Amino acid sequence: MTRVVAVSGSLRDGSYTKAALHYALDAAETAGVETDLIDLAAADLPLYDPDVDTEDAGDAAELMARMRAADGVILGSPVYHSSYSAAFRSFHDYCSYDEYDQTVVGLLVAAGGGTIAGTLNDMRTTVRGVHGWTLPNQVGLRGARNKFEEREREPEPGELGSGSQYVFTDEDLRNRTCKLGYRVGIYAKRAPEFIEIENEPEW
Ligand SMILES: Cc1cc2nc3c(=O)[nH]c(=O)nc-3n(C[C@H](O)[C@H](O)[C@H](O)COP(=O)(O)O)c2cc1C
Repeated sequence: MTRVVAVSGSLRDGSYTKAALHYALDAAETAGVETDLIDLAAADLPLYDPDVDTEDAGDAAELMARMRAADGVILGSPVYHSSYSAAFRSFHDYCSYDEYDQTVVGLLVAAGGGTIAGTLNDMRTTVRGVHGWTLPNQVGLRGARNKFEEREREPEPGELGSGSQYVFTDEDLRNRTCKLGYRVGIYAKRAPEFIEIENEPEW
């Protein structure tokens, strides 16, 4: 079955990046895919060091296997100093072409203020470096703390974002976030067909 994994690049308790990714993943499921969340806050992942084998680097080997099993990836990072977090960067350095082979990518960032474009561009550039197929859709949560409220009641069965400690209160951003997840799911299902080229001529 087609699989979509989200990666949350915030180590902060109560991360809004992670909250939004729960919504995106639930929306991806409605596209008929299996989902998985890699929460870097819960992972044992040392700073990437090329001199250390992945097998000897905490959870790295297991996390890379989960990335390789995915046909679609939703990358989430907090905005730190107008770019992505060190946790996101270090995780990304463990990844290579194998992890992104025929993989569709969606991007999402959460900012305290309004600086979202640079971070999204930086993520897009570095995903190209591993040949991921980044969708044109992307989500930037400006003033992220004002877009959510603490969850005060049990979620209804099947409610989107039910794994999150927060409820998304901004309707437009919730819609954009869910659309991102749904589209990653749909395109991940189509990916092998539109990415693979057979019998490509030599020029
Ligand atoms: C080291 C650091 C740098 C930050 N730099 C920015 C910034 O450049 N622009 C901005 O809008 N918010 C900035 N913030 C605020 C975070 O983007 C904001 O707290 C966001 O919610 C973090 O995502 P999270 O909730 O998933 O942890 C910064 C926060 C930290 C801790």
